[in-house]
Amino acid sequence: MLNGKERYEGMSIKRIGILTGGGDCPGLNAVIRAVVRTAILKYNLEVVGFRNGYRGLYLGDYIPLTLESVSGILPVGGTILFSSNKDNLFNYPFVENGKTVYKDVSHVGVENIKKAGVDAMIIIGGDGTLTSGRDYARLGVNVIGVPKTIDNDLASTDQTFGFDTAVSVATEALDRLHTTAFSHHRIMVLEVMGRYAGFIALHAGIAGGADAILISEIPYDINKVAQAINRRRQQGKDFSVVVVAEGAKSIDGEMVVSKVIEDSPDPIRLGGIGNKVAADLEKLCGLEARATILGHLQRGGSPTAYDRILSTRYGSYAVELAMEGKFGNMVTLKGTEMSYDSLENVIGKNKAVDPNGELVRFAKNIGISFGD
Ligand code: F6P
Repeated sequence: MLNGKERYEGMSIKRIGILTGGGDCPGLNAVIRAVVRTAILKYNLEVVGFRNGYRGLYLGDYIPLTLESVSGILPVGGTILFSSNKDNLFNYPFVENGKTVYKDVSHVGVENIKKAGVDAMIIIGGDGTLTSGRDYARLGVNVIGVPKTIDNDLASTDQTFGFDTAVSVATEALDRLHTTAFSHHRIMVLEVMGRYAGFIALHAGIAGGADAILISEIPYDINKVAQAINRRRQQGKDFSVVVVAEGAKSIDGEMVVSKVIEDSPDPIRLGGIGNKVAADLEKLCGLEARATILGHLQRGGSPTAYDRILSTRYGSYAVELAMEGKFGNMVTLKGTEMSYDSLENVIGKNKAVDPNGELVRFAKNIGISFGD
């Protein structure tokens, strides 16, 4: 198979296709807008968008994307192309004789890309979506990936777009919980998303002045969390705020699963650990406790200014990379610069909080308990 550069030298890119897959995320529309504006204004290309992620690729369901279609979408949450986290064309479910069977229908996607006259695909997604992106690159499709997820758990990039917005929403929630915790002398527990990574909890916990941060990367001893809360009481602070990542687990427990979605490529949905932490702390500390599960509020709505800029950089750079023929790569943020890495390197190496890293150390320095 030819590599991206060789393929590019023999062809010219005239039409770009975009798709957004997986869970939605603030900044998706900002990426779409940046791709469309860069493609049209800088390179005079045409752009189409496949709808509902890979399902649109399977059905050949695409729409033209023009300057007009992306007008006004920069601050808007969600994705104008819709998304799906169920449609893996390499393992696509069909019901035959009352039974679900899985088939590889990826070739239909390749045919539909050709039929749509698309020379390069910009695939915006997290781990699952970009795994298929890598697999399409292996089939010879000209793919550039863009790293999306509020969880910030993708390898090779310092930050995914959407993460900053999720942290801001969680921080605001902590600020609001502080005042009610204070008024009622309560322990308020906030459960945040992040799947198996504790980035949202760690960052929001520091920004929102949490007294304890519980993350999957540092299994917690609930007695140690209770001790930290009791120490505060001895200092005259009879309220506490605790942030818990949905993937957190105690030293002798398991992650709490809220749902198993059979037809999803990644069927486990975490959730509910916040209720357990609140109940345990209420018993151990003798203070009333309440849990709030922040859920999809972290994914909805307008992206922060930071995410709008990061999304714009990612989208615009993705088109530049396509025009340079650097296919099979994902755009990345390295320090303050845009860069890229091979999808082969990115996939299967999810990023997690370093328990010995700088941010955890500084959080501990200022007295935040991780229950360890
Ligand atoms: O990956 C993004 C994310 O929001 C995770 O933080 C969360 O665990 C999961 O998706 C929720 O998925 P769903 O939208 O299917 O409930």
